[in-house]
Amino acid sequence: MTQKDTKDRVVIFDTTLRDGEQSPGATMTHDEKLEIAELLDEMGVDIIEAGFPIASEGDFNAVSEIAERSKNAVICGLARANFGDIDRCWDAVKHAKKPRIHTFIGTSPLHRAIPNLDMDQMAERIHDTVTHARNLCDNVQWSPMDATRTETDYLCRVVEIAIKAGASTINIPDTVGYTAPAESADLIRILIERVPGADEVIFATHCHNDLGMATANALAAVDGGARQIECTINGLGERAGNTALEEVVMALKVRGDIMPYYTDIDTAKIMNISRRVAAVSGFAVQFNKAIVGKNAFAHESGIHQDGMLKNAETFEIMRPEDVGLAATNLVMGKHSGRAALRSKLEDLGYKLADNQLKDVFVRFKELADRKKEVYDDDLIALMQAGEDAENDHLTLKSLRVVCGTDCPQEAHMTLVIGGKDLSTTATGDGPVDATFNAVKSLYSHQAHLQLYQVHAVTEGTDAQATVSVRMEQDGNIATGQSADTDTVVASAKAYINALNRLFIRRGRTGEDKKEITYRDVS
Ligand code: KIV
Ligand code: ZN
Repeated sequence: MTQKDTKDRVVIFDTTLRDGEQSPGATMTHDEKLEIAELLDEMGVDIIEAGFPIASEGDFNAVSEIAERSKNAVICGLARANFGDIDRCWDAVKHAKKPRIHTFIGTSPLHRAIPNLDMDQMAERIHDTVTHARNLCDNVQWSPMDATRTETDYLCRVVEIAIKAGASTINIPDTVGYTAPAESADLIRILIERVPGADEVIFATHCHNDLGMATANALAAVDGGARQIECTINGLGERAGNTALEEVVMALKVRGDIMPYYTDIDTAKIMNISRRVAAVSGFAVQFNKAIVGKNAFAHESGIHQDGMLKNAETFEIMRPEDVGLAATNLVMGKHSGRAALRSKLEDLGYKLADNQLKDVFVRFKELADRKKEVYDDDLIALMQAGEDAENDHLTLKSLRVVCGTDCPQEAHMTLVIGGKDLSTTATGDGPVDATFNAVKSLYSHQAHLQLYQVHAVTEGTDAQATVSVRMEQDGNIATGQSADTDTVVASAKAYINALNRLFIRRGRTGEDKKEITYRDVS
């Protein structure tokens, strides 16, 4: 496909599983990556960047399996500009019905200095590596990393080399989120006008959100002639993240009058995948986040509610159902049966196999015993809580906490560790501290707590609390989540969930062995 063929269609390239997953703390397990890839494919994403195969054995295996299972989407892997990375990438993606190799090198003065290549040497490296990739795969994407801070003449020169060497997509990354909309559009326009062969390829835009302009920059690039947007669900990604898929897709849908472009995304699937990505990455969506935030369709002020009741269009430019937000809020309770739970979860976008439903039903009943009315948000929290997985090394068996004005606060805890019950009593500065100390005394570790966050799911004193915990050890970061009507129990479970994830990650990469990131120059 070339610029001419796409006309007004914008190709959506999702990099949640690569750029998104590489953001510190957003690690996903193998099965979670497969699940997200399947949801992306089902929602109509054109290209899924499934990972960075050279980075680790785990990344390689995930990309290979996503490739094997892919249905419609092109499956892409990332590779630095060297033959070893490219070969490894090809070995992972070649199982896909439609494979793509994405190779890149930093072309700005600052990035050229890292491998110590002058302009000519770098041009030669680009020629050789794109040619090598093209000899393996007929779908090659090339990116000049930090393109927006690269000298324009040099950028034109290297883009031409990549096209001549066989790249069919040229991605223009704003790696550090530095550009602004008018400049973003101009850069693509200049490349299309000046580079011979530009009309034979597709130009892509890849924006980071450091100045909060990623969505605007991506849309401006489309105006300048780009026909592929690189993005992530919930804007997940390093630092301030990447362009959010839901934002560009909905902007194009809602403002077709001034941006006459379209995507093939089934927008009704947005909410569900947003929730799943938030749950598995441990990166909660901010309440006022555009499109997928909890408040994005909430109209609380009196004036707004009055207007909404008269005519929804008064304050709403899209309908909640356009993004898959169920309009129902039928309350469930302890008398609700399994069929009602299944149908409610389906409305909320969760399709469960019978054995999964059985497990969720048990947890739902436990919740309904403690909480009279179970709302949609309670069920979503239940689904998002880091459930105990069969292979979890640690699970919480029991917890009793003494807290109040008299010190010390005490936690009496039993954990199941590697199949054995172990109990202890620990003290701390408050019930949560005592609880975390109890876990530490039963399972000694060096991980330190980077973040501890609590949110009430609904109103009322019997509301569930969702707790997120981020832990770091030896450069590996993992996030755990849980929900419970007892905040301390939710805290204990989230903490244990994070440790299990850290354990999986360390097991996957080898003790204390750091993974390669795409910032490591070959
Ligand atoms: O931000 C960036 O430059 C990247 C490249 C690897 C495309 O993610
Ligand atoms: Zn990036």
